[in-house]
Parts: sequence; C-alpha cells; structure tokens
Amino acid sequence: MSLVTSTEMFSKAYGSYAVGAFNVNNMEIIQGIGEAAVEERAPLILQVSAGARRYARHVYLMKLVEAAVEDTGLPICLHLDHGEDFEICKSCINGGFTSVMIDGSKLPFEENIALTRQVVDYAHPRGVVVEAELGRLAGVEDAVRVDSKDASYTNPDQAAEFVERTGCDSLAVAIGTSHGAYKFKGAAQLDFERLEKIASLLPGFPLVLHGASTVIPEMVARCNQYGGKIEDAQGVPEDMLLKAGRMGVCKINIDTDLRLAMTAAIREYLALHPADFDPRQYLGPAREAIKGMVRHKLKNVLNCSNRM
Ligand code: G3H
Ligand code: 13P
Ligand code: ZN
Repeated sequence: MSLVTSTEMFSKAYGSYAVGAFNVNNMEIIQGIGEAAVEERAPLILQVSAGARRYARHVYLMKLVEAAVEDTGLPICLHLDHGEDFEICKSCINGGFTSVMIDGSKLPFEENIALTRQVVDYAHPRGVVVEAELGRLAGVEDAVRVDSKDASYTNPDQAAEFVERTGCDSLAVAIGTSHGAYKFKGAAQLDFERLEKIASLLPGFPLVLHGASTVIPEMVARCNQYGGKIEDAQGVPEDMLLKAGRMGVCKINIDTDLRLAMTAAIREYLALHPADFDPRQYLGPAREAIKGMVRHKLKNVLNCSNRM
C-alpha cells in the first residue's frame, strides 16, 4: 500500500459520512491517529500545515506518514493544509504529498480562481488532487450578524462557477465554523440552508468543513484542572457535524480537539508525577489521548468507522 489521493474516499463517503482530516506535527500524533484508524477500520487523511512543516520539516513528516502507511496498512492521503501560494503547493506535490489545499479565500474571486487554476494545472498531471476554499470562515462576532454572512460566507452560485472554472477536486466552504477553540459566543449556529444550496448546485461534488473541532467541555475542564486557563471555549456540536456529513461534506478538519486532548494528558501526567522527567512517560499518555479522541471522532462524529 502506498499513499493514496482522497478521490475514492470521497466518492464512497458522499452523502452518508465524512472522512476525518487530522493535523499532524510529530510522531506521537501520527501514531495515535493511525492506531485509532486501524481499530475503527477507517480511511484517513493526515494533513500538514505550513507551520507543521516548518516545525518538523517536510522530510520527517513525509517519512513518518510513510511509516504509518506501512504500519497500519490503511489507505492514507497526505494533504497540505492551507497552502497559501503556488510555491508551497508545488513543493509538497514534488515532495510526495497526494493532495494539496490552495487557500485563496482571502483573495478577490477572480484572483482566487486564477491561483487555484494554476495549482490544479500543476497538480493534476502529477496525480495530485486539489482542495480550494471560497468564502471566509467566521470570526466569533460574525455568528450573530446576518448581514456579515452574505459578505463572508460562501456564495452558492459563485461556488458552482468556481468549481467549474478551476477544476478543483473539493471545496472548503464557509457556513459558520471557524478555527481554534473559540468559535461561537452564545448558541452555535451553522448555515445549513446555505450548505444545502451549495450541495444542490454541485451534485456529488465533495465539500470540506474547516474549523470543525467540537471543543468538548470535559477536555477543556481536564486542561484547566491542572493549571490551564482556557476560558469561554466553544466548538461545533457533534450532531451538526454528523448532519453536515450527510449533506455532501466529505472531509472534516480537526486539529484543536487533538491539541486539547494531548495537552490535557501531558498536564495531568506532569502534575501527578512531579518527579518524572523521561519524555516517554508523558508523551505515551499523550499518544493514547490522541488515539482516544480520534476513535471518538471516527465513530460518533464522522460516522466513518468500518468503512474499509
Ligand atoms: O487551520 C489550521 C490548523 O489548525 C493548523 O494550525 O497553522 O498552527 O499548524 P497551525
Ligand atoms: P479546528 O481548529 O476547529 O480543529 O480546525 C482545524 C482546521 O480547520 C485545519 O485546517
Ligand atoms: Zn482550516
């Protein structure tokens, strides 16, 4: 088995479940995610941000993910998360990634199209698929302002035109999610009407949801119990993610929840074992915490267990 693209994963998932795309930065994270996917018999997307690539370096992440493919025997897609220009996409394509995201969401419509088209033209002849983004993810304040939705959320008609003109393979849409641990003030709200409209104009085409951590309150409490100060955190409720997975969202991105799980485990271990200083003693529980969180996501949030 070698690395795969997400094409087959998405065509199997469309309309009934979503594939988990988990951000990776080091060996323990990759191992924890891989072990969870083996136990849940789930396909997997491992994604690397520019920051992760700077932190761990391309070659280390590449080799670790190759090791995960060999170790798990699972179909794994290696994806660049939020590529901000052509150069980083090119470098990841040439460096063995099977999928890249070109994030032109901050650009005017025509410029986003031109940049995405440039990446697609480079990626496709090399067997690599491309995720693009249209619309800007919400900030905490945006959730309550209806007028700001039309300015920043994905416009369904533009989405259809964008896909047609760029030839991209999947599209990240803005319907109310946002990155990090502070997503909503008050009740969580996603614009499902908009999602439905986008999906109806792009039948069978894989949509992507970024900023989809749930920020589980018990996990925040565990972080805070041992000295953390994470206040007013709030994420996307699990039932909303399950619903999105039935509406054409084929890829759901999760990073913050893994960070919280890992940090809670390390804080707890060090607080309870102040005399220990062997990194394996706290990184082992951290890896287990990642595994537990990913199993929970695959089974209960993505509906992606037993899909192999
Ligand atoms: O969407 C961003 C991901 O959570 C990655 O974050 O850029 O800090 O690695 P990062
Ligand atoms: P979260 O911050 O909600 O985990 O989102 C991660 C993400 O979208 C990575 O691209
Ligand atoms: Zn993202």
